[in-house]
Amino acid sequence: MNSKTGAGALGSMPRGARIHNFSAGPAVLPLSVVEECRDALPNLSESGFGLLEVSHRTPTFQNVVNSAMARVRRTLSVPEDYTVLFLQGGASLQFYMTALNLLRPDEQADYLVTGGWSQRALKEAKRVGDAQAIWDDSENGFRRVPQVGEYTVRDDAVYLHYTSNNTLYGTQFHHLPDSGGKLLLLDACSDIAGVPCDISAHDLIYAGAQKNLGATGVTLVILSPRALSRVGDDLPTMLDYNVHASNDSLFNTPNTFGIFVLDRVFNWLEENGGLEASIARNREKSGLLYAELDRTNFWRPHADKDSRSVMNVTWFIHDDALESVFLAEAEAADLGGLKGHKSVGGIRASLYNGCPLESVEALVSFMLDFEAEHS
Ligand SMILES: Cc1ncc(COP(=O)(O)O)c(C=O)c1O
Repeated sequence: MNSKTGAGALGSMPRGARIHNFSAGPAVLPLSVVEECRDALPNLSESGFGLLEVSHRTPTFQNVVNSAMARVRRTLSVPEDYTVLFLQGGASLQFYMTALNLLRPDEQADYLVTGGWSQRALKEAKRVGDAQAIWDDSENGFRRVPQVGEYTVRDDAVYLHYTSNNTLYGTQFHHLPDSGGKLLLLDACSDIAGVPCDISAHDLIYAGAQKNLGATGVTLVILSPRALSRVGDDLPTMLDYNVHASNDSLFNTPNTFGIFVLDRVFNWLEENGGLEASIARNREKSGLLYAELDRTNFWRPHADKDSRSVMNVTWFIHDDALESVFLAEAEAADLGGLKGHKSVGGIRASLYNGCPLESVEALVSFMLDFEAEHS
C-alpha cells in the first residue's frame, strides 16, 4: 500500500485513490484543483448553473475569464501592452497559425529544430513561406539544444522560432536564444510557468494547458504589439489572431471548462508562492531524480547535462531488456505514466507543476530497490 496516495497496486487500488502520476500530458493536477472542478460541476460560483452548463456570455463566466486573464498576467509578468488569448486547437494548430499570421509567402522564417514538436512546427510553416531549420540535431538523437553562436538567423528572416522544452527527448533551453533582433516565437507547451521565462523578450508564446496549466483543450497565446501589428488582412476568421484579440477570446464558444481549470491552477500557483516557488519546487524535484540517474551506470540518462530538462526527465536502463520490467514493476508500485514516448523509447518522468515532491521521492526510492534487485 502506498502511504502517500493510499493506493494499493493497480487493479486492487481503492476507488478514488490516486497514483503517482508522471504522465507527459494530460498530466497530474494539484488535488485541490481537481476538487474545485468537482465542486463547480453542479453549481459554478453559487450561480445555480453548473460549470459545464453555463453560457460563456453570462457575467458568471465572464468573471472566470477575467480572473484567468489577470492571474496569467500577474504570475507570468506579462507586459501590459501584450495580448493574452485563450484559443482552441492545441499547440498543433499554433504551428500553422503562427506562420499564417506572421509570415508572407515570399518571406523567411528560421527554426531551431530540437525535437519532434519543432519538426512539426517547421513543417506547418513551410506551407506558408520560406521556413528553414537553421539548427537541427536530429542526426544525434536530439540530446541537446544549441548554444548562442551555433546558428545564425538569416538577415531577411521575419522571426526565429524555438521550443523551450522538448517534451519527448527531455532537453531544455536554459538561456534565451539569439534572434538577431527578429521576432522571437516560442512553443512553451511543456515548461510554461515551471521555469523562468522573460515574456517581454518574446513576441509570441503559445502553450497548450494540459501539462503545467490545467486541462486539455485550451491554448494560451501571448502576443507582443510588434507581432500583432504584423497580422495580415483577410485571414480565415478562426485563424486570425486579431479576431480573437478584438473579442477578448470570446469570438465563438470557448473551452469554458478549460479556462476554469486554468484559472484554478493559476490560483493554486499564487497561493503556493507564485512563479518563483514553482521554479524552486521543479528544480528540487528534477535535482533529486538526476542525482539518482548520475549515481550509477545502471541508468543511462538521454540528455546532455547542460541541456537537461527540469520538466521531462528521460533515461534508459543499461540493459534494454529491463525496461519493460521496470515499467511493469513501477505500475504495480503505483508509479504511472513512465513509459518514454514511442519515438524515443526508454523511460520518461514528467515533473510538471502538479507533480508533488513526494511522487519523485517515491520514484527514486523505487529505483534504488529496482537496481538492487536487478544488477
Ligand atoms: C512542446 C510541445 N509542443 C507541441 C505539442 C502539441 O500539443 P497539442 O497536442 O496540444 O497540439 C506538445 C504536446 O505534447 C508539446 O509537448
